[in-house]
Amino acid sequence: MPDTGVNDAFVAFERVQKSYDGETLVVKDLNLSLPKGEFLTMLGPSGSGKTTCLMMLAGFETATHGEIKLDGVSINNIPPHKRGIGMVFQNYALFPHMTVAENLSFPLEVRKIGKSEREQKVKRALDMVEMGAFGGRRPAQLSGGQQQRIALARALVFEPELVLMDEPLGALDKQLREKMQFEITSLAHQLGITTVYVTHDQTEALTMSDRVAVFNDGRIQQLAPPDELYEAPQNSFVAQFIGENNTLEGVVKEISGDRCTVQLDGGEMIDARPVNVSKVGDRTRVSIRPERVELDPQLGDESHTLKATVKEFIYMGDIFRTRLSVAGNDEFVIKTRNRPDQRRLRPGEEITIGWLPEDCRALDAD
Ligand SMILES: Nc1ncnc2c1ncn2[C@@H]1O[C@H](COP(=O)(O)OP(=O)(O)OP(=O)(O)O)[C@@H](O)[C@H]1O
Ligand SMILES: [Mg+2]
Repeated sequence: MPDTGVNDAFVAFERVQKSYDGETLVVKDLNLSLPKGEFLTMLGPSGSGKTTCLMMLAGFETATHGEIKLDGVSINNIPPHKRGIGMVFQNYALFPHMTVAENLSFPLEVRKIGKSEREQKVKRALDMVEMGAFGGRRPAQLSGGQQQRIALARALVFEPELVLMDEPLGALDKQLREKMQFEITSLAHQLGITTVYVTHDQTEALTMSDRVAVFNDGRIQQLAPPDELYEAPQNSFVAQFIGENNTLEGVVKEISGDRCTVQLDGGEMIDARPVNVSKVGDRTRVSIRPERVELDPQLGDESHTLKATVKEFIYMGDIFRTRLSVAGNDEFVIKTRNRPDQRRLRPGEEITIGWLPEDCRALDAD
């Protein structure tokens, strides 16, 4: 995985590996750098190594190999409390015996900041998360979302340049989560804070981040801005993990420039963009987003069409979601917009679908 922005990196992982048991590497070869002010999300399934990476950056775990740098300086031997990093973790509870204001004051006391300055900073941090009136309450007297906001204020109160957040919104309901997502990103951008955010929720990652690092099996599978991850996944894992995706399996029959021809397992030939296939004869999984599939296509010369059988038609209000059987795949989904002239399909109906070859990506069969 190529490194980016090495020269102006604020945070850098260089060839970092981690093993807990001395045998298996749970982080395999991490090269990742963030410029100052970036909001980067580590996204990936459970056990893919996200928290481990964050813990190494925070200083609660040590890397087995490689180096972690902050502002160009190796922090491998600097203890957590001297790294000046703000942290919000899902279960990083507030101190229950302290009031909200005391909770916020604590990191400032640790840093030997005087009383009047402490009071001023606490007030500002509380106002920032719109909790100015709650300084005297104890955590137990707050809702989950309010506690989360206090945890956020506590991470920001000593004005860290770097904040780490590990699934900070996991416990909240959908509505509150969306509100907090917005609050976190706008605060981070407003204060120019560099943020490393961990989640396994892809929508959260796509909506909040400048860039997303997709993790699987201890490796970054792709590191890109949200739109690029969705539109141009580099391998099957990313294509499947980010958004809804249709796949058809086959064998590469020809490659020429930015086109290849794939013979699907049912015998049909289709054109695709070769993304993660290297030679004729490779098995491949071609991937097409549901919204890029046309019904009764009139896409011109370059299009392809395939016969499909309707399995299920779901009216969803703004869109129609139709499940089809296509070239042996019974889970092929298309989405069409609800317009007065849009056809509503019936199960059993035989139809024709098509797409532009550039919207169809030939990826690894993994
Ligand atoms: N303290 C530990 N001792 C031993 N193994 C650990 C320890 N912490 C994590 N692991 C293992 O390391 C791997 C990566 O775990 P990690 O917590 O980094 O995953 P994650 O991506 O944060 O997952 P989740 O989404 O479930 O939080 C897992 O296989 C896990 O079992
Ligand atoms: Mg984790």
